[in-house]
Amino acid sequence: MKLLIKNIKNLVQVEEKPRLKVSGSDMKILPCIEDAWLAIEEDKIVDFGKMDDFPGITDWSGLQIIDATDKLVFPCWCDSHTHIVFAASREQEFVDRINGLTYQQIAQRGGGILNSAKKLREASEDELVESALKRLHEVMLQGTGAIEIKSGYGLSLEAELKMLRVIKKLKTLSPLSIKATFLGAHAVPAEYKDKKEDYISLIINEMLPQIAEENLAEYCDIFCENGYYTAEETIKILTAAKGFGLTPKVHAEQLSNSGGVKAGVTVGAISVDHLEYVNDEDIVALKNSETMPTILPGAQFFLQEPFPPARKMMDAGLPVAIASDYNPGSSPSGNMNFMVSLACIEYKMTPEEAINAATINSAYAMGLSQTHGSIAIGKQANIFITKEISSYSFLPYSFANNNIETIIINGNIIHH
Ligand code: NIG
Ligand code: FE
Repeated sequence: MKLLIKNIKNLVQVEEKPRLKVSGSDMKILPCIEDAWLAIEEDKIVDFGKMDDFPGITDWSGLQIIDATDKLVFPCWCDSHTHIVFAASREQEFVDRINGLTYQQIAQRGGGILNSAKKLREASEDELVESALKRLHEVMLQGTGAIEIKSGYGLSLEAELKMLRVIKKLKTLSPLSIKATFLGAHAVPAEYKDKKEDYISLIINEMLPQIAEENLAEYCDIFCENGYYTAEETIKILTAAKGFGLTPKVHAEQLSNSGGVKAGVTVGAISVDHLEYVNDEDIVALKNSETMPTILPGAQFFLQEPFPPARKMMDAGLPVAIASDYNPGSSPSGNMNFMVSLACIEYKMTPEEAINAATINSAYAMGLSQTHGSIAIGKQANIFITKEISSYSFLPYSFANNNIETIIINGNIIHH
């Protein structure tokens, strides 16, 4: 199929020379073309330019045309951190927190991740596929075109494999680009309460080999936090994961400074995520690495943790990515438009910085920045067209409103 989008008021995040990520003061630059056109063939972006030099189309047969007068075109959001495979919501814990309990207190009495694990173990593979597919469809309509999905609510060999097989199935059923992450070290399961060492052995000696054998994950993540896994355990598990071909990621410095960033940098993690309690030493460690600092504004907002030092990290020359952390406990929304708004409103990221963070940099955080995260020739045709809006800054400004009109995924118009 050939598709031409013409009269685009502003074509946002165009890339003449491909970049893998954008760092520091470069994040203030968002390359755009005003009064533009964009051509798509099959599932790829094939060309774009200014309306002044409109393409000399000779073969109009089968060409579909969309007129985007007064509308903006963006590359789809890339969401590099989610837990969208889960069996049940947890609004009772939300109410408990309103009434004064903390996230950790709820976890200590068997709520939190262990609550989700209990329910997930009871759910069938088909049920999990069905509910996750609905969530994927919902976030796609909100502009997400590529997404990472973690296991971590199984916490047993059987249930972790079940989750990862569900994610593998989602890759075939959803048009979105999906990356899978094994998060067996998300919590210590109740059965291993006083023998965490044994559970770590299970992860390293039984889960990882089986996951590698069935090719069930690209990444391995861990919750490095007081009461969960230490920095030493993080290094141990992620080093083992690398031996099985999985690239490390870390849930780091979410509820306290626990050494997750430094551990992640040590093992060459592709990203370290959350970062509410990042300190100056962590920033120095990140400076000498290829690791993407990823902030999760939904979880910070929902748990009312301190703001991650996004400005400080960018001023130090670091890149920053934004993801949703969509999960039933700490971020029950995968709406990337809202995450971008929160980053601007709360962390004082400029719209340019936040859009870079939620496109090319979040694509990098899941190893997809060569194919996703910008408008570039040869990249996947995953884009969205806005309603009639005045500028790209209107998107984060107009928070919690739906400003997207048309979604195109793999060159197919999904929603118009
Ligand atoms: O990213 N921090 C650990 N994991 C999730 C929360 C999981 C849950 O509460 O179910 C997070 O915030
Ligand atoms: Fe998470």
